[in-house]
Amino acid sequence: MTPVPAGALTSPATARNRQPILDVLAPRLPAGARVLEVASGAGEHAVFMARALPQVSWRPTDLSPEALASIAAWREAADLPSLEPPRRLDAADPASWPSEPADAIVCVNMVHISPWSATEGLMAGAERLLAPDGRLFLYGPYVEADIPTAPSNLAFDASLRARDPAWGLRDLAEVTALAAAHGLMLAERIAMPANNLSLVFQRRRPAL
Ligand SMILES: C[S@@+](CC[C@H](N)C(=O)[O-])C[C@H]1O[C@@H](n2cnc3c(N)ncnc32)[C@H](O)[C@@H]1O
Repeated sequence: MTPVPAGALTSPATARNRQPILDVLAPRLPAGARVLEVASGAGEHAVFMARALPQVSWRPTDLSPEALASIAAWREAADLPSLEPPRRLDAADPASWPSEPADAIVCVNMVHISPWSATEGLMAGAERLLAPDGRLFLYGPYVEADIPTAPSNLAFDASLRARDPAWGLRDLAEVTALAAAHGLMLAERIAMPANNLSLVFQRRRPAL
């Protein structure tokens, strides 16, 4: 097990989901891809992905100062040339987004643990920054019509809403509709362990 550097945060969930998430990303990120990670949290995903995918450049970001300090601590210990320094990015605030294009935007476990405005900002940012063949990758639990929500996800949803009424599992149809309003179509829905989903959005191609 990698020792936790001084000043870094760690999450047991990351140890469980990082390999399945990498398995989704690896075949879909071409060499040289510029990846913008939104809501990197502790930064453990960033280090794990950058180590496994040295041919892509990985830019971690988050809203919170504690997260940014943790990402910096993990990054310093990992010493990976393709892992950029963390930057502050509030998904809901367009002014905090970088201007450089991205080949991929990766956002793990933010959509349900933030107000809906963060997801609105995420989709708007993806519309602005994604290259023509770029992709937006989301990971997390969702509610879906016609598919019973797992009891563990219902309990998680209730606990999130108790912490903050603006949080909670999102309806996949609402997320998909929001993405479509920003020119992004749901290209892949991939079932993940523990009743999570990976969602891959791509720009809608103009009709020929
Ligand atoms: C549950 S953590 C997930 C962190 C990490 N992606 C992971 O899976 O371990 C949610 C993260 O979303 C970040 N966050 C919440 N609202 C945000 C916003 N508006 N813009 C960017 N990040 C945000 C929080 O600071 C936190 O780091």
